[in-house]
Amino acid sequence: MTWMDVGHINDIPLRGARIVKTPLGCVGLFRTDVAEVHAASNSCPHKGGPLSEGIVHGQKVTCPLHNWVFDLTTGAAVGEEGRIDIYPVRLEAGRILLDGTALGKRSAA
Ligand code: FES
Repeated sequence: MTWMDVGHINDIPLRGARIVKTPLGCVGLFRTDVAEVHAASNSCPHKGGPLSEGIVHGQKVTCPLHNWVFDLTTGAAVGEEGRIDIYPVRLEAGRILLDGTALGKRSAA
């Protein structure tokens, strides 16, 4: 794995999200209400809704366009056919580290 520093957890509001532009593409960073961060695709597989503008609740995010719900720990849609890509991410002294190797695999797919 190649860990990339993509910001500080405090750059993201509680139960909020932001987009990070990596050399390998845009990724959504989603912060839950228990100070954890998930990294996932920003694009909803239904009709491309911007998931980073959705509502984060628990370990899930709801798409702002038609309310599909995605589990941020698995990428699976809840009650629908579909999933989003998720990426390895970890926190180190508040810094958000994203696995650039996993992003590279996505780009090549
Ligand atoms: S675009 Fe996300 S639910 Fe329709």
